[in-house]
Amino acid sequence: MYTLGIETTCDETAASIVKDGVDVLSNIIFSQEDIHKKYGGVFPELASRSHLENIIYVIDKALTQANITKEEIDLIAVANGPGLLGSILIGLNVAKTLAYSLNKPLIGVNHIEAHLYASMMNDLEKVQFPSLGVVLSGGHTELVEILDIGKYVSIGKTIDDAIGEAFDKVAVMLNLPYPGGPEIEKLAKDGDENRYQFSPGRVKNSPFDFSFSGLKTKVLYTIKGQQGKKHDKSILKDIEKKHVAASFQKASFNDVIEKILLAINKKDYRAIYLGGGVTKSKKLKEMLHNRISNIPIYWPEPGFSLDNGAMIAGLGYQKFIKTKTQDSLDLCAKTRIPLV
Ligand code: KG4
Ligand code: ZN
Repeated sequence: MYTLGIETTCDETAASIVKDGVDVLSNIIFSQEDIHKKYGGVFPELASRSHLENIIYVIDKALTQANITKEEIDLIAVANGPGLLGSILIGLNVAKTLAYSLNKPLIGVNHIEAHLYASMMNDLEKVQFPSLGVVLSGGHTELVEILDIGKYVSIGKTIDDAIGEAFDKVAVMLNLPYPGGPEIEKLAKDGDENRYQFSPGRVKNSPFDFSFSGLKTKVLYTIKGQQGKKHDKSILKDIEKKHVAASFQKASFNDVIEKILLAINKKDYRAIYLGGGVTKSKKLKEMLHNRISNIPIYWPEPGFSLDNGAMIAGLGYQKFIKTKTQDSLDLCAKTRIPLV
């Protein structure tokens, strides 16, 4: 069964053809990085315009690379949220139009859930539950208990910035382009991660929730001086900036790792599944594997960490097969959808 997966919730225009939920025949991603670079984050109006310009081309390329015609598609899966409304609407309307004109079933997929599926689809036979799910992206920071594909219990989430967003904002303070995560990782390589004692916020009575805004402000004052503003000139020498990048990176990842440890010590999970753009970080992988060795850890394969259509197609297929239902053409775009 061939599923077309369409993803336009943020700043990647992506389409993929996946066979039987796991076999990725094509995974085309048009990244808007160059468009948003100078803004230090995603510029929503420019994002939707770019999706509109590229979506048909991206879908055509996904079909060509998979060597199938559009008539051979069996199911159309689309991320209908969470994300930026104007962006989601482009992918959603294209998906509906295709479903209607080709007379194929349509299924809406939760983008965050798809990030978790990205680390499962590679070895679906081995997937066991209950497992711990960790989504670390530009828009989301979530810890969930995975009871089954499609069945989750929320454990913790960010109460302010998402972890990737914090990296993107600290990058702006360090005069680095968007997306900030990879830039900070590069800069941090030659820095001393113990030079600055940064620590992320604690959320009262919610040991599994995250808060990055205090950490971000601490980093801001370190780079720009007390009461300094985001666009002020840095008071630090270049070498100190490397130390700040390394110390910030260590503090944020330590926070995630401490919460993962807390969760796996509290309950017997079979495995940990991670997803989202931040899981591209080699440093995070190294730090997590150094701390946890008694439980299998699954990461998305290269090309499946950042937003992509394959995770949407794969999860859409699973949902379709499991629930034996499809969505109607009234399917709504949702800027927020809880996982549970
Ligand atoms: O999953 P994703 O493509 O978008 C959302 O669904 O939000 O993730 C993008 C995020 C950006 O914030 C980017 O800075 C972050 O992933 N990122 C990283 C790294 N590579 C990408 N963060 C930290 N370290 C990295 N190496
Ligand atoms: Zn994402």
